Amino acid sequence: MLDVQTAPAAPTVVRRLDYRPPDWFVPEISLDFSLDSLKTTVRAKLEVRRNGNHDRPLRLDGDGLTPESVMVDGTLLDSSGWRLEDGDLIIELPGASHVVETEVRIAPEMNTQLMGLYASGGLLCTQCEAEGFRRITFFPDRPDVLSRYSVRMEADKTRYPVLLANGDPVGAGELPDGRQWAEWHDPFPKPSYLFALVAGDLVANRDSFTTMSGRKVDLGIWVRKADLPKTDHAMTALKLSMAWDENSYGREYDLDVFNIVAVADFNFGAMENKGLNIFNSRYILADPDTATDADYDAIAGVVAHEYFHNWSGNRVTCRDWFQLSLKEGFTVFRDQSFTADQGSAAVKRIEDVRVLRAAQFPEDAGPLAHPVRPDSYMEISNFYTATVYNKGAELIRMMAVMLGGERFRKGSDLYFERHDGEAATCEDFVRAMEDGGEIDLAQFRRWYEQAGTPRVRATLSHNGTTAKLHLEQNVPPTPGQPDKLPMVLPLRVRLFGENSAAPLGDERLVLLDAAEQVVTFENVVERPVLSINRGFSTPVVVETDRSAADLAFLSAHDDDPFARYEAMQQLMVDTLVASVAGGKLDHGPVIEAVRNTLTDPALDKAFVAEAVLLPSESFVGDHMLVVDPDAIHRAREALRHDLGLMLEREWRAAYAATQANRFEYSPEAKGARRLRTVALGYIAASGADDASELAFTQFEGADNMTDRQGALTTLANGESTLRAKALEAFYERYRDNALVLDKWFTTQAISTRDDTVDQVIALSKHADFTLANPNRVRALAGAFTVNQRAFHAADGRGYAYLADTIIALDKLNPQTAAKLVPPLGRWRRFGEDRAARMRAQLQRIVDTPGLSRDVFEQASKSLA
Ligand code: ARG
Ligand code: ZN
Repeated sequence: MLDVQTAPAAPTVVRRLDYRPPDWFVPEISLDFSLDSLKTTVRAKLEVRRNGNHDRPLRLDGDGLTPESVMVDGTLLDSSGWRLEDGDLIIELPGASHVVETEVRIAPEMNTQLMGLYASGGLLCTQCEAEGFRRITFFPDRPDVLSRYSVRMEADKTRYPVLLANGDPVGAGELPDGRQWAEWHDPFPKPSYLFALVAGDLVANRDSFTTMSGRKVDLGIWVRKADLPKTDHAMTALKLSMAWDENSYGREYDLDVFNIVAVADFNFGAMENKGLNIFNSRYILADPDTATDADYDAIAGVVAHEYFHNWSGNRVTCRDWFQLSLKEGFTVFRDQSFTADQGSAAVKRIEDVRVLRAAQFPEDAGPLAHPVRPDSYMEISNFYTATVYNKGAELIRMMAVMLGGERFRKGSDLYFERHDGEAATCEDFVRAMEDGGEIDLAQFRRWYEQAGTPRVRATLSHNGTTAKLHLEQNVPPTPGQPDKLPMVLPLRVRLFGENSAAPLGDERLVLLDAAEQVVTFENVVERPVLSINRGFSTPVVVETDRSAADLAFLSAHDDDPFARYEAMQQLMVDTLVASVAGGKLDHGPVIEAVRNTLTDPALDKAFVAEAVLLPSESFVGDHMLVVDPDAIHRAREALRHDLGLMLEREWRAAYAATQANRFEYSPEAKGARRLRTVALGYIAASGADDASELAFTQFEGADNMTDRQGALTTLANGESTLRAKALEAFYERYRDNALVLDKWFTTQAISTRDDTVDQVIALSKHADFTLANPNRVRALAGAFTVNQRAFHAADGRGYAYLADTIIALDKLNPQTAAKLVPPLGRWRRFGEDRAARMRAQLQRIVDTPGLSRDVFEQASKSLA
């Protein structure tokens, strides 16, 4: 079975405004699986109930299924009793309620899309969100049909000793021929996208959590036996998450069991199936030798995210997929808040804004721009985007900023109380915030409707003792939305005195809700410097006329750590953009600002490490009319070199001061490791003779992956003979560990060296490269697209390589292939030559026969 969807001549477009309630409900479903990797039999028994007065038939979604039998109310139908339409099963039913039974066969081992029931490393597992359940059995596969599930599984006992599903285990036993069965029951009605089962040879890290009402919940993290020692960090994160949701949102866990399973082949991060989360193993497995601090942080964040979905997603789910941000935006906001509470809130905010700017702003500025609540799609998998997730989280954050903690909590309490057990909409959430938080959000709703990143122009004038802040906003046109209305932009603003270096009055929350607005500050007795959009209170681009001196001043004196970081970034971006444009080259202000930050003993090391890092080449490109990847690279490397050279003593001091004897996992130790790697990078950038020796010594002596990979990255960017030696040693040491081998691929794909494109193309033919594993694809091809200069090699061979990869992968895994398309869609941002080459590759993709709907949608929209 090679089940590739072919692009229909005119792919169906699904529209938000066409929503209609389901014709039939399914209050109960029993599933009976006879599991086998090549031939699984699925028997489903559905209690169906007509919704309202209509005579429409029962339509059960199916994707690649053929019924072995169909029964209604206990009677077998002959083939005139049902028909297949576009893969869906249609049955004419006379009454208001019936029992419908179907039987199908599926082959998990052949399922390369990794949607539905599939095999991964010897185990069987499922992924149903958004529309994978229809690949397992015939069902109204839409989130507003909620059912109570009973699941029975039987399987070979040796190959699949562990059988898991949603809810609570209710029975298990032995069968003849070395087989066994298990039955699970989930008391909470849920949509089909939250269904899950796992069968395999797994062991569990077991623990328990006692909820706020005193119920004991059994926790299990299931992995292959060899991975068991790597599950403690995830378990700790799970228990912290459970406590945090009780304390912060009053949300208690609701089943007696909570299981997590780690699998090696997974299309994205993880999945919040009720009571049975399934994870990409990279977001579970960690020990100091194989995982970096960034991996540890990502694990805790994703464990929290999926756990929080139990309320924001499962107890209250989505009416239709256009409402996806209802659960994803809110849940990302919740996991961000959780992480902020565990460590440095300032550093967490810096990281989240960096992700937003790197992934979401470009999306909002390109051909695939869409509102947080999209209006149409061809393939819903393409809308699991940074806009729906990360911008969606910013919308929730803005409401929280406007309401304040207490009223925001009243709003969220009301939301959960009103909609528990329901399939709700983004509108329902906003209304709960209005009613519970007592605020009018009429105009704020435009954030859900209008795509594009608003731009704010801020000019501060000072006269006598009065300062006036003149604000203008403008939302750029996006596909299908040529004209925009003003948004509500909550801007946290404060003024600082240039001479006193002290704040002039309190911080103000300015709600910019018109195209233009003037804000007046009184008693401003000295020249004020503007600190605006503090904490990144609204996800916009702010343009000011602040001088390099003002930005350097803020980077040293602002009391908001994010604003301090931001001032430094702005100073760096301004400097790089000027030097690309051929302006007067003055690295002085950046060097001085970095020196001040680096030597300020009051600052925490993790913050310093973030603040002294130069913005990425693509972020600099985002500030230019036409991106010139080579000029940006040269300018940035030149500034790195000067920073390294002029502050060499300071970098060496920071490097020495962050040396540790023994690995420790604490915020302080993490901050020190981060700064150490940054300092090493600058020492190398200075051109110092001993830099590669230093890196190689760190590489060999490291007792943790953060230091080891940090050193490897520095070596991989360089020309020293130690480079090959380190890459070779790393490969030999970790060749059997897929997650670490991914790092080996990525480190080379993001190298700043001149030959990176060729290296990447060579690596795509390496024996350890495979298109079958999404992590491996992302580690090489995905990481490569982030390397602006290499990907945009002038002769276009980076583009050709990516298109080859997309076309080949589409035959196996359309969803993951489609994720690689957007970098080619940025062609408008580049010069004519590159734009033409990018378009040619997109055209080649679109012209490929048998293309999936996933890739067709992304590539055709990208050409428009
Ligand atoms: N709901 C999952 C999460 O946010 C992700 C599911 C992604 N599904 C997809 N088709 N891309 O954790
Ligand atoms: Zn999610």
